[in-house]
Amino acid sequence: MSLSWRKVAAGVVGLGLMVSSVAACSSTRSSTSGSTSSGTAAASDTLIGIAMPTKSLERWNRDGAHLEELLKADGFKTSLQYADNKVDQQITQLQNMINQGAKVLVIASIDGTALGPVLDTAAAAGIKVIAYDRLINKTPNVDYYATFDNYGVGKMQGQYIEKALGLADGKGPFNLEPFAGSPDDNNAKFFFAGAWDVLNPYVQKGQLVVPSGKAPKTDDDWASIGIQGWSSDTAQSEMQNRLNSFYTDKKVNVVLSPNDSLALGIAQALQGAGYAPGDSYPVLTGQDADKANVLNILAGKQSMTVWKDTRQLGDQVAKMVSEIVSGKDVTVNDTTSYNNGVKNVPTYLLDPQVVTKDTVNILTDSGFYTKADLGQ
Ligand code: BGC
Repeated sequence: MSLSWRKVAAGVVGLGLMVSSVAACSSTRSSTSGSTSSGTAAASDTLIGIAMPTKSLERWNRDGAHLEELLKADGFKTSLQYADNKVDQQITQLQNMINQGAKVLVIASIDGTALGPVLDTAAAAGIKVIAYDRLINKTPNVDYYATFDNYGVGKMQGQYIEKALGLADGKGPFNLEPFAGSPDDNNAKFFFAGAWDVLNPYVQKGQLVVPSGKAPKTDDDWASIGIQGWSSDTAQSEMQNRLNSFYTDKKVNVVLSPNDSLALGIAQALQGAGYAPGDSYPVLTGQDADKANVLNILAGKQSMTVWKDTRQLGDQVAKMVSEIVSGKDVTVNDTTSYNNGVKNVPTYLLDPQVVTKDTVNILTDSGFYTKADLGQ
């Protein structure tokens, strides 16, 4: 594996303060307009292509809409496309954006290794490429990357479980079922590694037991428990299978879910098997703070989520686009952690945060949701 997990983790600790302060001043719409208005003069006829993976997950709808709004406010023309999680469809959309004369492509890839040829075409046309949230691998033709600290997301999930179960105090054994994200998504291995580096030592010591046997031996084996396309339905049936096959005489105490779409399916499976919110409900992790999952957290059906304020990501990417178009230096804060197999991709890394039932107000205070959204 080309990336040193520890290096990323260390880098993030070091960057924490800096990123927080950037986040603090870029979390609102108006601050972004201010920061990018310098690019407006060059913008008026410039087309920016935005390629998002799917409309089926709440976060990508938010991401796409927010970024499009920011770029339009800066005077750019935009082409925002969703690809129904189909790689070929995304490649066709990118090819169309190239044909239409886009100056910059912002791409949240579906399969991070499948875009080499279409990005060769983009590079030949002088188009710059920003990998959005997910790194694009095995091509020299990705110019910048903006994302949240993916390893940090997994680490937060692992540390939440460690604390909730008292693992550091020697408590256990607890029955754990781990899940991982889509094998074709470059982020999924980071999420898993961050969590597994915290949890695997407890598996080795016997404080965590995995009755299904689906415990990857190392970080690198994560794809063996990956859920293709981050599908809620697949996660639900996988959890149902594990409960039916391995839990006829025992209870599951904790489920490591890498994100909210999986957690939604897992919560359904738990409910179907008779688990009700309360003290014996398993610890269940997530990521994204999707509305349905925040409602599940409030209802006691999910323990936590890792919130990535996608408005900050959009703010940062809109700023990068303006900097590229106006020929300025592009703002990055990490040039060593994300190697795509060909080169280190200059990256802007943002900080995620944990949200639990007790801290759900972070989401409403920041305006990410209204109180009414959360039934409050
Ligand atoms: C993103 C997550 C998201 C997942 C599924 C990942 O690449 O970083 O935020 O939950 O894809 O869409």
